Amino acid sequence: MATDTEEIASLREQLQHHLYLYHVLDRPEISDAEYDALYQRLAELEAAHPELITQDSPTQHVGHVPLEKFEKVSHQYPMLSLDNAFSADDVQSFIARAERRVGHIEGFVCELKIDGLAISLTYEDGRFVRAATRGNGFVGELVTQNILTIPSVPRVLRNVPDTLRGVIEIRGEVYMPKSSFQQINEKLDEEGKQPYANPRNAAAGAVRQLDPSITAQRSLDVFMYHIEPVSTVGSQAAVLPLLAELGFRVNPHWERVEEAAGILSYLEKWQSARHELDYDTDGVVIKVDEKRLQEELGSVSHSPRWATAYKFPPLEAVTTLEDITVQVGRIGTLTPVAELAPVLLAGSTIRRCTLHNEDDIQRKDIRIGDRVVIHKAGDVIPEVVRVVLEERAGTAVPWSMPTACPSCGSRVIREAGEVAWRCINTACPAQQRERLQHAVSRQALNIEGFGPAMIDRLLAKGSLASLADLFSLTREMLLDLPGVKEKLADKLLRAIADCRELRLDVLITALGIRHVGSTTAGVLAAHFGSLDRFRHASREELLAIDGIGETVADAIETWLKEEASQKLLDDVLAHGVRITEAATAAGPFLGTTWVLTGTLSMPRHEVEAAIGRHGGHVSSSVSRKTTYVIAGSAPGSKLAQAEKLGVTILDEAAFARMLAEAEQQGRG
Ligand code: IVH
Repeated sequence: MATDTEEIASLREQLQHHLYLYHVLDRPEISDAEYDALYQRLAELEAAHPELITQDSPTQHVGHVPLEKFEKVSHQYPMLSLDNAFSADDVQSFIARAERRVGHIEGFVCELKIDGLAISLTYEDGRFVRAATRGNGFVGELVTQNILTIPSVPRVLRNVPDTLRGVIEIRGEVYMPKSSFQQINEKLDEEGKQPYANPRNAAAGAVRQLDPSITAQRSLDVFMYHIEPVSTVGSQAAVLPLLAELGFRVNPHWERVEEAAGILSYLEKWQSARHELDYDTDGVVIKVDEKRLQEELGSVSHSPRWATAYKFPPLEAVTTLEDITVQVGRIGTLTPVAELAPVLLAGSTIRRCTLHNEDDIQRKDIRIGDRVVIHKAGDVIPEVVRVVLEERAGTAVPWSMPTACPSCGSRVIREAGEVAWRCINTACPAQQRERLQHAVSRQALNIEGFGPAMIDRLLAKGSLASLADLFSLTREMLLDLPGVKEKLADKLLRAIADCRELRLDVLITALGIRHVGSTTAGVLAAHFGSLDRFRHASREELLAIDGIGETVADAIETWLKEEASQKLLDDVLAHGVRITEAATAAGPFLGTTWVLTGTLSMPRHEVEAAIGRHGGHVSSSVSRKTTYVIAGSAPGSKLAQAEKLGVTILDEAAFARMLAEAEQQGRG
């Protein structure tokens, strides 16, 4: 029988190992329940032998004693900051400056610059001792208890080589995942408290909490990238894998490149790819790879000569709001649009952007002639964030929504509880145009080459008024349009001919019913199975479908009740379009709920439509009700959540196999 001392040691080792698998490698080998059992056993033994409790025991990760204030601590090696580069030219001059000192440089390491808070972790003979913030670079604050609440920070290092025995400092960045940031802000908002401006501030707030039990609730994480003393490892390209080997979480997206061109293509790639990540990065840190050269290069006052921080171009710009126009959408929604003095933002010139709705304009007090800050976050479309009030001229003009539709002059209404004004004339030319554009778009009929200009010309000629008219277009009608040659005309006619056999869900999507996108269309097609059943659906029947709520059911009911809608369906059928019956109500995915995360090689809406077509339901967040999570590349925190809840995770290949099988069943 093992003694209690031996069992405690063994339990700590096991728990340490499973924490590492779970939090660092994202590859747990035991269930949460099994982990909890080990943990419980250790806690029991420690309760019986309080003298055997050590600070690095996994049971001790949350310090329970709030501090009065943080103690100060001197860094054994100063924590330098970095010089900035804002352009390719700046990067070239950084290289040139360094090469003037040490001659040709063979390699650089590019790393994402994590937008968090610098942290230094001290280890002695492989055991965690303390954690400190950067402070002024020489003296920082001791935040040991708080950092210990972060599960991926190892208490004991694995496989420590002799060179890293003694006292070492491991440096990196503490950050808050975007997903946790959102959750925390939602909660603060619900509690009527001021939300954090960005994940960086939220992370800084959490690290500087005097009560570690609060820090523990903030889902912080770390990426480590530096070892002091520097001389212990030969190159930065060796440091990063070594850190991972020791048990630290290391950002996987670093690259070793040999020259400026490699650096520049790394910058270009991450400028847009970074938006897919679940953490903020504000740039790229470029480091001379060889440590010998780093030491030779040394540093100037506060920053080393061997590294520079390239900052991504700002996602905000200031420009003048020249006018506000109004766009009419396919269901008649009037959207105010900002007409801007052209301005460069994150690499593209912005001339217009949405102003969402009248309330938003009033809330932000936006007036024509104002200087406005525009912002672009990720793949999100640019928008006006705020007015630069200090620069408001006396001539700035307040704006209000027109009382008649700018396209057809009909009355506009605003339904109770809605922010949008809508034109109620379904024959409104602007709506007609948007509906057609939607019908031929990729989500619906997917007729390539059928752009807005073509639709406008056909509308103007009176050759096209509805989706059904597509099927009576002739070669002559197309050739009659300016710029359309035989080749294009034939291509379009072939694409239209391909739509004469139309899947029910594709048709439903193409109809452009309010609130009905391709996912919902998939659910409807799977449920009804035929156009005939769908077009006579009652509100009750719609509401009984899993995944269809009141709003959607109402919108469909309203649409189906309109005479023009039923006529449109008759017209489509009269043109000989055959609707292929989609999978039956008992689709193979019936009753399943799916969540997608990361980048998929297939467009997301297609994956969603395929799931819907076979009776599945797509949701945006992982819960215990989730049946499957499909994880693409660079998956977000949803993956971790799925693992935690024990939800089945599929990669794209596995999903493709399930889908192929479902399609087989659908046909069989
Ligand atoms: S290296 C002496 N690498 O950026 C060189 N810094 O502006 C130490 N940062 O204080 C820094 N990600 O807080 C390095 N991959 C990375 C980084 C990184 C974020 C932060 C760090 C540093 C600041 C410099």
